[in-house]
Amino acid sequence: MNEEQSTTGVIRFSVSLPPKLVKEFDEVWKEKGYDNRSRAAHDAFRNFISEHKWAFSLTEEVVGIIVVVYYLDKPSLLNRIVEVQHSFEGIISSTMHIHLTRNKCLEIVAVKGKAKDVRELGEKLSTLKGVKETKFAVTTP
Ligand code: NI
Repeated sequence: MNEEQSTTGVIRFSVSLPPKLVKEFDEVWKEKGYDNRSRAAHDAFRNFISEHKWAFSLTEEVVGIIVVVYYLDKPSLLNRIVEVQHSFEGIISSTMHIHLTRNKCLEIVAVKGKAKDVRELGEKLSTLKGVKETKFAVTTP
């Protein structure tokens, strides 16, 4: 990664993104009332980090859901998603599958277990190629 530290204490680096994602991002930050892309990216980075740093300790018991949106373009993806879920069968109470469009699905995975395991499950799902997004909504029982 090319990084350049300026005298103002910020780091500039280049990021490669698909044009469609940039277009969508630009639309959203303008709609939200940001002045520029950097300010919006700053907050987006912050949210990305805080989403990872939960308010729960890793050993704490949590209940909730993981929402996963993915594309069916890759035939092996569905199998991999099911495989990952089977390897966490101890913390998954149930799964609801919703067909969004011809090639896009949404799954709601109900979870109950240690925060560490719930997060690991979410991360394993979110890093599969073809998974568009994952969201957590968890709380303590
Ligand atoms: Ni489906």
